[in-house]
Amino acid sequence: MRKLLPLIGTPSQSHPGGRSAMTCRFRCGDACFHEVPNTSDNAYVGDVIAGAIGRRSVMRAAAVVTVAAAAGTAGVAGAPSAAAVPAEAAGGPGGAPGGKPGGKAARGLRYDSVAPNTADAVTVPDGYAQNVVIRWGEPILRGAPAFDPENQTAAAQAGQFGYNNDFLALLPLPGECDRQLLVANHEYTDEVLMFRGYDPANPTRGQVEVAWAAHGLAAVVVEEDRRTGRLTAVPRHHLNRRVTATTEFRLTGPAAGSDLLKTSADPTGRKVLGTLNNCSGGTTPWGTTLHGEENFNQYFAGGGRPTDKRYGIGTGATERKWERFDKRFDVAQEPNEVHRFGYVVEFDPYDPTSTPRKHTALGRFKHEAATVRLTEDGRPVVYSGDDERFDYFYKFVGSKRMKKGSSRAVREHNLSLLDEGTLYVARLTGDSPAIEIDGSGRLPADGEFDGSGVWIPIATATAEGAVSHVEGMSAEEVFVFTRLAGDKVGATKMDRPEDIQPSPVTGKVYVVLTNNGNRGVGANAKADEANPRNANKHGHILELTEGRNRPESTSFAWSLFLVAGDPDDPATYFAGFPKDDVSPISCPDNVAFDPHGNLWISTDGNQLGSHDGLFGVATRGSRRGELKQFLTVPTGAETCGPLVQDRRVLVAVQHPGEVDGATVDKPASTWPDGPGKIVRPAVVAVWRKDGRDIGV
Ligand code: FEO
Ligand code: CA
Ligand code: CA
Repeated sequence: MRKLLPLIGTPSQSHPGGRSAMTCRFRCGDACFHEVPNTSDNAYVGDVIAGAIGRRSVMRAAAVVTVAAAAGTAGVAGAPSAAAVPAEAAGGPGGAPGGKPGGKAARGLRYDSVAPNTADAVTVPDGYAQNVVIRWGEPILRGAPAFDPENQTAAAQAGQFGYNNDFLALLPLPGECDRQLLVANHEYTDEVLMFRGYDPANPTRGQVEVAWAAHGLAAVVVEEDRRTGRLTAVPRHHLNRRVTATTEFRLTGPAAGSDLLKTSADPTGRKVLGTLNNCSGGTTPWGTTLHGEENFNQYFAGGGRPTDKRYGIGTGATERKWERFDKRFDVAQEPNEVHRFGYVVEFDPYDPTSTPRKHTALGRFKHEAATVRLTEDGRPVVYSGDDERFDYFYKFVGSKRMKKGSSRAVREHNLSLLDEGTLYVARLTGDSPAIEIDGSGRLPADGEFDGSGVWIPIATATAEGAVSHVEGMSAEEVFVFTRLAGDKVGATKMDRPEDIQPSPVTGKVYVVLTNNGNRGVGANAKADEANPRNANKHGHILELTEGRNRPESTSFAWSLFLVAGDPDDPATYFAGFPKDDVSPISCPDNVAFDPHGNLWISTDGNQLGSHDGLFGVATRGSRRGELKQFLTVPTGAETCGPLVQDRRVLVAVQHPGEVDGATVDKPASTWPDGPGKIVRPAVVAVWRKDGRDIGV
């Protein structure tokens, strides 16, 4: 039987995405309370000519419509007629037709689902164990002091693990037995939970400088205990490194050196200090990591230009008041500094002296993440979502081929791969008549939310220069004001595009839409076939099949893989899998694949009364759509950075204790160290007590 939800309320029902007001305030600068930044009138799915039948044949569509008509009504997502469900998903070998398949869960997902709960703990399945790998403030660099939250300094913090760990990567360390290199994002700071007696109206310079040092990235070597699966940090390793809000970066690619990027401190337009609000990211096949600068707008005061408005840069003071301590955070005084944030950052963790880069060729928006795969001839393809209500998702196709090897010349070549290529934005077309998409989540007559799509080129960067494909915009403008380019070419407004991951097994691409409470509300765009629920609280996941299954393709077919929520809600859908034994899920955010090809989904902002969690779901075979919760995180926390290896699951527990009204003196959580200890974001490893692989 499906585990029932506990009857509890959340402290945050009035906040979009189920988040606390504190999360909205510190993480994204109350993005969901501001006007929707995308007021463009470009078409959306329902209005784009729906004539294309997409990947469905006319014959199949006709057959399904006949079945729906015979039943007297169109189906509802999650309760499609048996005929509308592919035979394999409906039962498959050993399963009753239309019922739950017999046999075991998909390989990799054979664990007892964790029930929804509100424990101030990381709760894992029976038979699994966990440890905290590293916490905010643990010293990782030589000379860094032990963590002392009562006497924290910027110098100490710059040598310690940063705040609010999000994206995680684990890279091999050849020659170092049982060790790997962990790279983490430190997305943002929660000052009221970091500093006792913090006064939001009057932050001190000392507090602000600690916050600068707590943002950014960390590289830290970790070592596994072969007997237990426990993973621990190795302090003072020569590859350990911190990157902060004041570390020097290089701007590269087609907009580097542009007048739009020049400031009084940097007349070259090529050198910028720091990275901000790194949310999720990706690992490249050439051994570097990518990091998305997401809600960068909230750090800048005094915006007023139309371009500022499109990016949500406010006209007044900021929440953290950094502009009082460095004028570059005041747009009125330093108008171009804000143009130097909102990029994908590339970091070379194997070279602790390297200068990290900001890639202008991948465009400027609220990058949630950046995930990479290669074309058959070795060129990089990078997917990235713009995490804003009614914004777009993008793809970059590089023109240079990756080289193999580890020489300095090869490494330098590979670090330039993301400087040349074409940036595309997605436009989706539904294959059902717009009138059949009523905003309730009810399936259209053809039994599926699906259709076709195109990647629209917006600019191309070459060694000789860059070319715009958008009328009225120069190439530099496309790369710096990418949202406006998407508006002009009629990209599809989506329900907050988060992570995008191609399956390493099937090549299908999964696009996570976390939620959009404004869909269909007031003058905002109404539901369409790719975003089929108005006031979408729980989010959904699209599955793309690119033309000929080639990553460089400019066309794709799409369908909804998952429509999230309580399975008892008829507007939910789990790829056609029967819903009596799937876990409830709300607000999918970051995703990862395990070695078996299952998709693992972390959540941010559960609206069903439970804490956030991590879930595994089969993407193929007879168990396709069977979703199982693997863990839950502590009070106020979001589940981030999931990584699933053969023998270990790694999660970043971000913003534990971030509950309205909580402070250092009045904590809502005391995770991970218990009563009397300050709450600390931390990375957690989970493994099987019997030493076997995860979920087999
Ligand atoms: Fe930082 Fe889109 O979540
Ligand atoms: Ca359809
Ligand atoms: Ca995220």
